[in-house]
Amino acid sequence: MKPMIPTLLLLAMGSAQAAPIAMEDQSQLKVPGVQAAPQFAPPAESAIPDNAFGKMVREGHALFVDTRRLMPEAVKNGLNCSNCHLDQGRMAHSAPLWGAYPMYPAYRKKNDKVNTFAERIQGCFTFSMNGKPPAADSPQMTALSVYAYWLSTQAPTGVEIAGRGYPEVPKPAAGYDFKRGQQVYQQQCAICHGDNGEGQKVAGEYVMPPLWGKDSYNWGAGMHRINTAASFIKYNMPLGKPGSLSDQQAWDVAAWINRHERPQDPRLVEGSIEKTRLKFHANDGVNLYGQKVDGVLIGQGIGG
Ligand code: HEC
Ligand code: HEC
Repeated sequence: MKPMIPTLLLLAMGSAQAAPIAMEDQSQLKVPGVQAAPQFAPPAESAIPDNAFGKMVREGHALFVDTRRLMPEAVKNGLNCSNCHLDQGRMAHSAPLWGAYPMYPAYRKKNDKVNTFAERIQGCFTFSMNGKPPAADSPQMTALSVYAYWLSTQAPTGVEIAGRGYPEVPKPAAGYDFKRGQQVYQQQCAICHGDNGEGQKVAGEYVMPPLWGKDSYNWGAGMHRINTAASFIKYNMPLGKPGSLSDQQAWDVAAWINRHERPQDPRLVEGSIEKTRLKFHANDGVNLYGQKVDGVLIGQGIGG
């Protein structure tokens, strides 16, 4: 079962004013006024050429939407790429592949070097999929890159296109609140993601992705930052109703989700949560890793 995003919603989102982009620092080129640019439209699926290249596009698409089943050795949680990059990597404000591909190679603070597009995808395998990334020259990586390249047909190179990334949702003046976040969660999210963030399975396969626990993204993933999760949530959730939460609700529910345990950060330094916090989390947006909430240390990890 693959929930479809109604076309009308996509159109509505396309015309929305894009807020500044929340990407870490991946863009060496900032173009003023880019928010006002008309929405880029990736090619339709029917335009995939009927040749060897088109075959590769289809393979990359299949890996992107069915990652867990097709790449069990690389994915160690319950997610597919398309769970966080909605509408098969096409949706504006859902870190679409057409917004990403033309921006690489790019410097990333996260690993302090210039990353190729393949290295950027490897990052999502390591953290968002809690897995082991395929080699940069593997057929799977080529297929994923070909799919992203094809979606970017006629996009400019090295220019941030409107709709890239997850637009930043400013931190509310009053901060965030777990209790309110829990309420938003129960009223607007639990019906799909489960009372305990565990998602939903049909015949052993996830049809609704988990938000915390052993099958979720790990403590090194971009989504573990409350600010990044708030951005994703505000522009993409509840599914089919993007933009319906206030900034405050998005932050509150993002904090509620990210105060729950998930697989350990694979960069764990000498088995120490505190050393890992200092090295990787102290300057990484707003996050709870290595902090105490209600007397309980967050970031102990689960499963894996
Ligand atoms: C749990 C959610 C999640 C999953 C699953 C996920 N990603 Fe991501 N991805 C993100 C987030 C969040 C970012 C933005 C990272 C940041 O701000 O640090 C991102 C960024 C990216 C980017 C760079 C976007 C840009 O504009 O620079 C690419 C490319 C990408 N992901 C590809 C993938 C692929 C391919 C997969 C599957 C192998 C995948 N992602 C799985 C959450 C996810
Ligand atoms: C109607 C069902 C539905 C509702 C309601 C819903 N979601 Fe989702 N959510 C989904 C589906 C389905 C996906 C994966 C999208 C895809 O694969 O196209 C998803 C993806 C996500 C993800 C990224 C993937 C992951 O597992 O980490 C997060 C985070 C998330 N939702 C949070 C929320 C929050 C917070 C709410 C409530 C404000 C919410 N969702 C409400 C169905 C829903």
